[in-house]
Amino acid sequence: MSTSDAPERRTGVTRRAVLTAGGVAAVGAVVASTHGAGASTDSASSIPFFGKHQGGIVTPAQGHLALGIFNVAASDRQELKRMLADWGRAAQRLTVGLPLVETYDGSYPPSDTGEALGLGAANLTLTFGYGPSLFNDRFGLSSRRPKVLVDLPAFDGDELNPAFTAGDLCVQACADDPQVAFHAIRSLARLGLGTVELQSLQLGSGRTSATSSEQRSARNLLGFKDGTNNLRGGDSALLKRWLWVGARDDQQWMTGGTYLVARRIQMNLSTWSSTPLKVQESVIGRKRSSGAPLTGEREHDKANFEALDPHGFPVIPLGAHIRVAAPETNGGVHLLRRGYNFIDGVDERTGNLNAGLLFLCFQRDPVKQFTALQGDLARSDNLSQYVTHVGSGVFACPPGLGSNDELGASLFD
Ligand code: HEM
Repeated sequence: MSTSDAPERRTGVTRRAVLTAGGVAAVGAVVASTHGAGASTDSASSIPFFGKHQGGIVTPAQGHLALGIFNVAASDRQELKRMLADWGRAAQRLTVGLPLVETYDGSYPPSDTGEALGLGAANLTLTFGYGPSLFNDRFGLSSRRPKVLVDLPAFDGDELNPAFTAGDLCVQACADDPQVAFHAIRSLARLGLGTVELQSLQLGSGRTSATSSEQRSARNLLGFKDGTNNLRGGDSALLKRWLWVGARDDQQWMTGGTYLVARRIQMNLSTWSSTPLKVQESVIGRKRSSGAPLTGEREHDKANFEALDPHGFPVIPLGAHIRVAAPETNGGVHLLRRGYNFIDGVDERTGNLNAGLLFLCFQRDPVKQFTALQGDLARSDNLSQYVTHVGSGVFACPPGLGSNDELGASLFD
């Protein structure tokens, strides 16, 4: 779905109106009151907004996703800087379950759109990222571009739809309630009116990855357990090596940050569901019921890629998804996968379900990690016959903020 929050445009509500009706001034004022007496923040289901790293990365994956991709319409560096600071202040409020403002002036359209009132924080996280095109010198940022932040190359089989591809900024909103996640992106889009335009809003329901050892694996729309062999929040040594940007990696402002790759992957569900179970299992390399590798009994048994069947063929076929993707065969690369199922009605042309996986993954170096791995998968993964990549983006996600920091300040200053 591609939208630019057109109803607000038609009613002539501009960013200035949102702001003067209590937006930024009040956001600033009332943010302070979240720390004071009387503010009804929802601490029981809040993920801390401030910290060394942004939320929504190693945070145990919530049930719902709203992914907003934005392009900057303004040409003024200060305006972009101000908007990012406004977004940071708004995010502080939204992630503790507060509306954008506390009080409303009936003479103006309400600053907060209201659909999340009473729903609490629902463990909302907002993860901000900057795309390569933000650094193309419109804003004097070219010297700040990390060298690994480059557009992803074209992979075999890609059929990218421009509506779901690239983008200057992204905001990943994840929450236990879909309306809370939607409200967050909608609110940021309204706060950014005149400065940014929403290129796409992609909704995902049903996490496909576990990012904490307490979480059970969920299933993707192919019916298989997904996220079994994933990096998790507790894997400190692996996270240091494969997830977080180190102080000597590149740009200082990215230390403690990470890179998000977002791929919209359409599944051909009718072909998949007419495929015999044994073939499905050999395509993935795991059993559908238990999630165990074809060489094991239980989900977390280690896959044995050396095992041969009585005819001398590998039990986990050479083109099985897990064999091609596994660190044992891919040169040691790990990713933190954090994807969601999407279901977007019926494809008018084919009558098939328009559904698949919003594949999101975080990593320290997208060139050496996602790009290298996806190159192998595009060439030799048997799963490629059932899926098509239709959207793509890569974003630098800066580290988390301290309580006195402004979002975006480290990028500009
Ligand atoms: C619609 C597309 C995809 C589907 C349905 C899918 C599904 C799965 C499933 C069912 C597993 C086994 C369980 C697990 O360990 O998570 C798996 C593993 C994995 N997938 Fe995918 N996947 C897709 C795309 C991708 C892409 C694009 C990448 C990376 C470029 C990727 C990387 C991995 C990795 C690294 C593993 C773990 C392999 C291991 O160490 O065992 N997947 N995937």
